Amino acid sequence: MKYLAGPFAPVTEEITAHDLPVTGRIPAELDGRYLRNGPNPLGVEDPAVHLWGMGQGMVHGVRLRDGRAEWYRNRFVRTPGFAPMVHVIEHARRTFALAEGGLPPAELDEELNTVGACDLGATAEGFTAGAHSKHDPLTGELHSLSYMPGREFVQHIVVDAGGSVVRTTTVPLARTPFMHDFALTENHVVLWDTPIGFDGFECRWLPEHPTRVGVLPRVGGDVRWLDVDPVHVSHTLNAYDDGDSVVVDVVTAEGPFDPADPGAIRPALDRWTITAGQVDQRRLDDRPQDFPRVNEARATRPHRFGYSAATALYGIPFTPDGTPSDDAFTNALVKHDFVRGTSEVRGFGRHEAVGEAVFAAAGPGEDDGYLLTYVHNPARGASDLVILSAQDFTGDPVARVHLPVRVPLGLHGNWLPDR
Ligand SMILES: [Fe+2]
Repeated sequence: MKYLAGPFAPVTEEITAHDLPVTGRIPAELDGRYLRNGPNPLGVEDPAVHLWGMGQGMVHGVRLRDGRAEWYRNRFVRTPGFAPMVHVIEHARRTFALAEGGLPPAELDEELNTVGACDLGATAEGFTAGAHSKHDPLTGELHSLSYMPGREFVQHIVVDAGGSVVRTTTVPLARTPFMHDFALTENHVVLWDTPIGFDGFECRWLPEHPTRVGVLPRVGGDVRWLDVDPVHVSHTLNAYDDGDSVVVDVVTAEGPFDPADPGAIRPALDRWTITAGQVDQRRLDDRPQDFPRVNEARATRPHRFGYSAATALYGIPFTPDGTPSDDAFTNALVKHDFVRGTSEVRGFGRHEAVGEAVFAAAGPGEDDGYLLTYVHNPARGASDLVILSAQDFTGDPVARVHLPVRVPLGLHGNWLPDR
């Protein structure tokens, strides 16, 4: 029920609004679309047993151009039989909504209407996208990790910059894991096999199953598996090769983890350094947070900065100045400086539910740009697209674009600049 109420409550209408009012000034270099996907379940028969992540996907988007917010649109992802609701990405100049597990993405047009399920001109094996398919900004490739209940293997799938599947590597496993995310470096694919897996078609925590991290050469080959402490791995911030080591920054939580109630865990930020068959697991930030993001230009390479969200989902112990609080309503974004080992916390007020913030580059510097996120504005009963300066993270927002409606807390998105 809690995922149908409050900041999660679904909206019932598809809206189109033009020339949105703005407080502040939209940077002229932000020319493109900010899109975010998430579940928007309608017609739930029994709210008492409703699970997070069920129901129709809905993409919320704002188009920015020449310092103006040209439009806001929210559209259901309209595919028969399944509803990609986890992520929304662009590849080969096409927009795709991504689903959990081994399902094909749904292609969307510029204005978020569903074109249909897309297999990217499939090879014989077809193309299914993992929820967290990842770009390599240097090669232009899209890498995906696909699993499906009932299949005792996962597949690493590489799509070239032109949008064609060029390689599929099958990784055999003893059962079907729940691999929501993975990590990609210049030379490696890193995957985790945790106690969360499928028992038939039911996804649950299986305490007898060890947690392993696997390293697969990007060019294909065999996975080297290494045992690690038993944890749930939620999301990857970024990963990179460092000499003979592979470094992965991840959000983890101690189990058991109930996939139906992700808010019941306490996620934190860790760094796993994998060297010569050993995994060093080190805590970077113990404060509960998730939805980690990085400047995507640094994806697969070393990063200095990262951004994460502490949303109402996790009952946040942050206050705006970063000190612990027992209040469950505090909403915050965190900017990490992993070189200095410091962080800045930007708090939002009561009921100002804030989700994942994505980085939009404005220059070559790693934090030279903006963070975009939807924030609920309780005074208006609607949401704002908040644009923050990444270098003035705790200062006044650069702009607040006032949307005509509320945007429910959702999952993942991207800033998709025009080329
Ligand atoms: Fe995710």
